[in-house]
Amino acid sequence: MLVIGLMSGTSYDAVDAAAAVLRLDGDTLLLRPLGMVSTPYDDALRAVLTRALPPAAVPLAEVCRLDTAIGRAFAAAAVRADRELCDGQAELAASHGQTGYHWAEGGRVHGTLQLGQPAWIAEASGLPVVADFRARDVAAGGQGAPLVSLVDLLWLRGRPGRAVALNIGGIANLTAPDGTAFDTGPGCALLDAAVREFSGGRAAYDADGALAGRGRPRRRLLERLLAEPYYALAPPKTTGKEVFHTGYLRAAGLFDGVRPEDALATLAELTARTVADAVRSVGATEVIASGGGLRNPVLTRMLRERLAPVPVHASDVLGLPAAAKEAYAFGVLGFLTVHGLPGTDPRSTGARRPSVLGSLTPGRNGFRLPPAAQRAPVRLVVER
Ligand SMILES: Nc1ncnc2c1ncn2[C@@H]1O[C@H](COP(=O)(O)OP(=O)(O)O)[C@@H](O)[C@H]1O
Ligand SMILES: [Mg+2]
Repeated sequence: MLVIGLMSGTSYDAVDAAAAVLRLDGDTLLLRPLGMVSTPYDDALRAVLTRALPPAAVPLAEVCRLDTAIGRAFAAAAVRADRELCDGQAELAASHGQTGYHWAEGGRVHGTLQLGQPAWIAEASGLPVVADFRARDVAAGGQGAPLVSLVDLLWLRGRPGRAVALNIGGIANLTAPDGTAFDTGPGCALLDAAVREFSGGRAAYDADGALAGRGRPRRRLLERLLAEPYYALAPPKTTGKEVFHTGYLRAAGLFDGVRPEDALATLAELTARTVADAVRSVGATEVIASGGGLRNPVLTRMLRERLAPVPVHASDVLGLPAAAKEAYAFGVLGFLTVHGLPGTDPRSTGARRPSVLGSLTPGRNGFRLPPAAQRAPVRLVVER
């Protein structure tokens, strides 16, 4: 089945659309990657998102406009991926959407709101769409995150030692081979927030770590930031930009006369340190890393130094490019759903039971779902 996975994470930089041919062969799920196209959100939509996302309070009218604009952006990305990667032969779209709010409180998740109305994707592409993946796991008592952990477990199974999957997006998360999975804290979120503030909104991220590379971490500031209670919580746990935003940095004193390059160096150190501590806490002997954070050489250098001798490999070495891995993972989750198969491992999300995830939106010809699979796959093999 030719599936397009659509993803935009907490960085809300772009809609990533990855296409793959997926096929069950006994208890193995085979994935042949066809590529990824990334379509940046336009500046106007990004500006609205910046104003609307937590901790801002927004009227429902604004939520409706965002849900529509994001749905249309995802639709355009799906059409583009079908045309450019699939010769118009795609059979299914699986859309993560854009997290509008993830209601975590008192160590539990009570609800989740994914924006990007899938009807727009179905209407524009003609494809049936699986969307809104997180809600079902939340309803089953889980954190609704990290959702790619089942894919990580299937994919890294059989690697020697303890291979840990790490994704550094806006938030960083990991999956360990025993199913332990959690958000470690900020990935690029705080770095991006600081750059936005220092540049008056002109820059969205510290391109190639240029600023951080010229600065020195400020020890007192770093200690203050490390005192954040989230880092010490036991998994399963999840966090988001509801916590790690510009106001959070302001309250920590980051904008009180600290030179921008030192502020960025401090945040890179904070990020590398909290990610490395989390990776070490699960006994990793190898890290398979993905996400836009890998494109920040200062962050990755600090992370590698802190984790040595444990190697940090980009997920490219296993056939899924670092920038595309999450989009492929959502393609896999959509494929599992239409085959009646669970997309979660309760050890990762803390749910009472595994769930078949998402909601289905009919395509141009309604639903033509494949027959339910006889058994769930135990491994994912990337064909190359
Ligand atoms: N050239 C680069 N230099 C530094 N950071 C980068 C670069 N390219 C991307 N990034 C970082 O990656 C982030 C996007 O990563 P991504 O994996 O798409 O995250 P998300 O899943 O949260 O959308 C950007 O916000 C930015 O912080
Ligand atoms: Mg992104």
